[in-house]
Amino acid sequence: MRRLIGSRASSDQAAATGRRRVAVLALFVGFVTACSSPPSETATGPELYSQLCSSCHGVGLEGEVGPPLGEGSPSATLPDSYLVTSIRRGIGTMPSFDHLSEGQVNRLIAFLRDVQAGT
Ligand code: HEC
Repeated sequence: MRRLIGSRASSDQAAATGRRRVAVLALFVGFVTACSSPPSETATGPELYSQLCSSCHGVGLEGEVGPPLGEGSPSATLPDSYLVTSIRRGIGTMPSFDHLSEGQVNRLIAFLRDVQAGT
């Protein structure tokens, strides 16, 4: 009798451990997917910016680790070609975003120009 109870307890414990492992795995997979999932091809400029750039350049383009990109910033007077190259190749410690499509880069820059124009 004692042995029976003991073995049932340990199998409950094993099941609980198994469930915890599944939960941890699910969290991990979710985390990795969130970090590495490429932006959708139809994502808008603001969506692309908030997903890829805002962590370094600030939610409102005010600058953080990276320089400000909004109204009155150096970027506002730099040509599109400079912005495209910075985004595609990276610059200094900024990583390159060479996996973005031309449409995605254009939408990102259109968004930056909108904010810079104060619209
Ligand atoms: C990991 C942080 C980080 C991310 C993410 C990031 N940047 Fe940057 N960015 C920087 C840093 C740092 C610089 C300054 C690099 C230097 O001049 O040495 C920079 C520079 C730039 C510049 C040139 C600005 C200037 O005044 O010369 C542009 C334009 C730019 N980033 C746009 C973007 C866009 C658009 C995205 C999203 C696709 C993005 N960045 C994502 C960190 C980042």
